[in-house]
Amino acid sequence: MKKFATLILLLASIASATAQIRISTDKTDLILQVNPEGRLYQTYLGAKFQDEKEIGNLKWDEYAYEDGLDCKRGGEAYSTEGNEDYFEPALGIVHSDGNRSTYLYYKSHEQKSIPGGEETIITLQDKVYPVTVKLHYAAYAKENIIKTWTEISHSEKKPVTLTRYASAMLYLKRGSYFLTEYHGDWAMEARPEVECLQYGKKEIETKQGTRAAEFTYPLFKIGMDGAAQEDSGEVLLGTIGWNGNFRFTFEVDNHNVLRILPGINPFASDYKLAPGEVFRTPEFYFTLSAEGTGEGSRSFHDWARAYQLKMGGATRMTLLNNWENTYFDFDQQKLSGIMKEAKKLGVDMFLLDDGWFGNGDDARSGDSAGLGDWEHNAEKLPDGVPGLVRAAKDAGVKFGIWIEPEMVNPQSKLFRKHPDWAMTQPAREAYHFRNQLALDMANPKVQDYVFGVVDNLMKENPELAFFKWDCNSPITNKFSPYLGKDQSQMYIDHARGVYNVMERVSAKYPGLPMMLCSGGGGRCDYESLKHFTEFWLSDNTNPVERCFIQWSFSEFFPAKAMCAHVTSWNRDASVKFRVDVASMCKLGFDIGFQDLTESEIEYCRRAVASWNRLKPVILEGAQYRLVSPFESEHMAVQYVSQDLCSAVVFAYNLFPRFGEEPLRVKFKGLSPDKYYKVCEINLESGEDESDYDFDGQSFSGHYLMNVGLNILGAGHMSSNVLELNAL
Ligand code: GLA
Repeated sequence: MKKFATLILLLASIASATAQIRISTDKTDLILQVNPEGRLYQTYLGAKFQDEKEIGNLKWDEYAYEDGLDCKRGGEAYSTEGNEDYFEPALGIVHSDGNRSTYLYYKSHEQKSIPGGEETIITLQDKVYPVTVKLHYAAYAKENIIKTWTEISHSEKKPVTLTRYASAMLYLKRGSYFLTEYHGDWAMEARPEVECLQYGKKEIETKQGTRAAEFTYPLFKIGMDGAAQEDSGEVLLGTIGWNGNFRFTFEVDNHNVLRILPGINPFASDYKLAPGEVFRTPEFYFTLSAEGTGEGSRSFHDWARAYQLKMGGATRMTLLNNWENTYFDFDQQKLSGIMKEAKKLGVDMFLLDDGWFGNGDDARSGDSAGLGDWEHNAEKLPDGVPGLVRAAKDAGVKFGIWIEPEMVNPQSKLFRKHPDWAMTQPAREAYHFRNQLALDMANPKVQDYVFGVVDNLMKENPELAFFKWDCNSPITNKFSPYLGKDQSQMYIDHARGVYNVMERVSAKYPGLPMMLCSGGGGRCDYESLKHFTEFWLSDNTNPVERCFIQWSFSEFFPAKAMCAHVTSWNRDASVKFRVDVASMCKLGFDIGFQDLTESEIEYCRRAVASWNRLKPVILEGAQYRLVSPFESEHMAVQYVSQDLCSAVVFAYNLFPRFGEEPLRVKFKGLSPDKYYKVCEINLESGEDESDYDFDGQSFSGHYLMNVGLNILGAGHMSSNVLELNAL
């Protein structure tokens, strides 16, 4: 009997030691396998297997090589420092005795249902040191998104030091890899750059601490065997949920295998992990598309709306903001006037921007004072925020408000009272970014204060309908007074402190829409977007620039998360062009009526009404990017409703050359059998005739998708909007 039991145990351990672990969406398989020594390897990442039995053909060493060693290296699912591999590890641990080696062995795994898919949790352990690593993979079947993160813990007697802690590790084995990264600066967000990865390492990282995506965005894509195309070819799109320092490492090894390591940037961030503490990495989200970037983007859009964005299933409000209109120069009367303009435009809400707080010498009449003092300025606003909420109600619109709660101006009551709440060096002169300092978000008292900024405003004004949460500086004077002598966790604890507050706010106010902003688009990560309904892409609202910026961000984020406002940037562009460009995202305005003629106001009013009517298509529909501004002097973007009965096409002409004859644009995603009536909408004036001779005609989806229509024109900075409805 005893012998029999031993045999069963042995068989079970052999079965588990060689078991394939299959992580699947409806379109993708990521397959891992335990090798005979009990280590875990990736054996496949690609299109989903049609015949499950064929997975058995994969060997554990699909990505591994001998390379003269008497063992194999490469392909380990979560490679560790000190093992047989000679490339960048996912995990680096200095154990409490100083040893830097970790080997991970498969212990167990479980798979459980989660909303929309299945989560696989694989437990790995070292045999020499009591270290446990849990790899998590949440696979969303229909949306074809895999979300991965890792938990690291140990039970050594003393703390260990983590020097590397990737969220995940993935391998690709193809002929060539073309990386698209997105870099930029203030008002120059998300500029894509493509390069072919060669042997060696390419790192994309930020060290700004907070407002961390100012120069580089937490987004990338890898085109396989050629640069990523919009509608064809294999492409992996990835993004990380971390608004602190992040790093993507891409390493092509000596066998031309690409290793991808997304994670927190370990720069200046050795992490002391106490026994029993669990280090949870940020989440990394990716999709593998066999049909180009477009399909990958639609996967992200569907997934974000269903599972990630705050209030992802709810609609969004149009708004009128006063920043570009007034800057700091306003009072209650002026704002009441603007609220009436909001009503006249037909938008849902007035959003009050920076400048409403601080008093006396600390009044926020420019950007050098007042941050931190979140009480209304009594001179400008004698009736306070409640007075503004009332005025908005009287005008018939909702009221939203701007805050920048993680920051402080040295010229403020808060800084004088709590100088140790700000990031400052004890013995050095401070330097500032926009005259301000980051608060020390590692400090729980500071977290309470920051939470209180939203909470107190909400307690005083339960009818507040919206917040714009800004963050205009990176971390300067890199020292946390709270952490004191040991600063090695400063960057990580700071980012965690920010998330902690965001989580508290969204837990207490789950139905409160909020815009994430960071000096333009310096924050755009899916972890923050669990707590925000939308984000501000860029302070650059020149509609020509916006075509490019919106195109780039739309590769990862759905229209309902992307705020676009009509402003006076680029007065050479018609108001129609400016409105039409903003209408492909979440529409808003940041312009005063003094800068618009009566007929322009009338145009905006009609455009708001048609945008409201088309919200279900633009915000909930499938997006097809038809013509790229990066490859032409035009741009065309289409949205199709989920039932394929309605569509909207935005066509923009930037600066076409003289005599250029643009090609017909073929539509996408329609039902080939349905007939659609095509009507131009948003004409410049109510009486204008359409530019198109096909206006009002009907075409089959097949015709529209295979023959297409001549929708592009020759006018500089001109645009047309088409509405399609199935007959
Ligand atoms: C940042 C934002 C702007 C505006 C200003 C206010 O630059 O991106 O939209 O809110 O701050 O100071």
